[in-house]
Amino acid sequence: MTELESGSQELLRGHQLILVSNRGPYDFEVTEHGLERSRGSGGVVTVLGPVGRYARPVWVAAARSEGDRQLAAEQGREPIPVEEGDASFLLRFVGIPPSVYEGYYNVISNPLLWFLHHYMWDTPREPRIGPEEWDAWGMYVEANRAFARVVSEEVRRAERPIVLIQDYQLYLVAGELRREHPDLTIQFFLHTPFPSSDYLRVLPLDMRQALVSSVLSCDIAGFQTNRSAVNFLRAASSFLPDVRVDYDFGIVHHDGRQTAVRIYPVSIDPETVRELAHSPEAERELEFLAPYFCEQNIVRVDRIEPSKNIVRGFEAYSVLLERHPELKERVRFLAFLIPPRPGIPEYDRYQDEIMAAMGRINIQHGTSYWHPVQAFVGNEYVRALAAMRRYDVLLVNPVIDGMNVVSKEGVIVNERDGVLVLSEGAGSYEQLAPLPTSVSPADIEGTADALYTALTMPESERAELAARLRRKVEQEDTARWLDAQLRDIESLSVELS
Ligand code: G6P
Repeated sequence: MTELESGSQELLRGHQLILVSNRGPYDFEVTEHGLERSRGSGGVVTVLGPVGRYARPVWVAAARSEGDRQLAAEQGREPIPVEEGDASFLLRFVGIPPSVYEGYYNVISNPLLWFLHHYMWDTPREPRIGPEEWDAWGMYVEANRAFARVVSEEVRRAERPIVLIQDYQLYLVAGELRREHPDLTIQFFLHTPFPSSDYLRVLPLDMRQALVSSVLSCDIAGFQTNRSAVNFLRAASSFLPDVRVDYDFGIVHHDGRQTAVRIYPVSIDPETVRELAHSPEAERELEFLAPYFCEQNIVRVDRIEPSKNIVRGFEAYSVLLERHPELKERVRFLAFLIPPRPGIPEYDRYQDEIMAAMGRINIQHGTSYWHPVQAFVGNEYVRALAAMRRYDVLLVNPVIDGMNVVSKEGVIVNERDGVLVLSEGAGSYEQLAPLPTSVSPADIEGTADALYTALTMPESERAELAARLRRKVEQEDTARWLDAQLRDIESLSVELS
């Protein structure tokens, strides 16, 4: 594992990191053998997990399951020490009544904010912000306050704390905290894209102002891409009075404070990902997958989620087989799909559309012994990593997305000099471009062409491209992501309390 820069190590020795995210590193389930722990799913946990190797952060997260709530009740206000390999955390749960969690998570965070951040609303019709949504907004405020109360307790007992708040579920935490801790170092980091001001106007002004001004009570606001950072600067000057934005230096002056707006593209720890991709479990998965691999394989790994653009990806593959029938029985599409967030009708509809698209392709292009598309639905991280060792093409074609860490994992574990077909909407595009196989996400023809280019690329060209991308991801790994943030915390001469 890459080491942190010495400046970062020193900073971490003298300060207590407090990570704050809705989902924590582990889910606890009540089973007949007692409480059982499993790895929390989702991108945020993948990205923050390695931080536990460099520091022993307090990690504040919502108690989401019955198991979490039980554990939280047993532990009271004492954080729970959790060790895993060489990572360790002090886990602190936030108790939120399930009825409040429902409005906070299932109405405001998803779908309202998630859909807004990914441009997914069909705006002539939706969203409709009526009494139910306003009630849920009250719950979002309440849940964020509950988080702020717990973080505040941790801040009071920590030595020189630095608070790192993650993502759109927790926009309001910083504002709450700042009232009590005027000198505390607070950073907010958004893992999703930040939308343009025109699109954000779909939210009522009160909501927009609350979100943006809370982020401005931080010392630093971090984003994945330049595009998101610029959108945020524009939102600050469009929606709040008495704000001065310095676009050259990425600084917002507001209420007598300064907020630095910075770009920190999240990454992975290549060594850890490689180890997992070669673990005994991964070898077993490869054996299981062996009968499904074809001469050449297009692979994708995504949660079932409209912003991932899975249906258009299948349609592009169908066009490819139409144009190049010689590829039939030689090129298969293996899709590793993680089940969608439950309880959101749009996701259920999208899942149906995916299954229908797959069915059409298998009927149109398949034979009795060859299925062009094979999907594996489940939360099987190691299986997906194992499969990515063998891709010839990795398709990552989101409409718009935060980072698409999978594009980095793929580049690191692949063993066939496979080619990445990457959408301009992917967060990783800013780092990994230019690519001979980049695509515009709605362009089905263009995506079919890119798949063909990738499948037929001369070996030397593929090897050169794969090596360049590998170097890039190795150089810009999680340690560098953390270094950049810690360096900024230090160099902004923020008053560390
Ligand atoms: C993805 C996104 C994160 C987001 C998370 C929420 O991983 O990249 O930005 O926080 O989803 O997922 P959840 O399942 O916890 O709602």
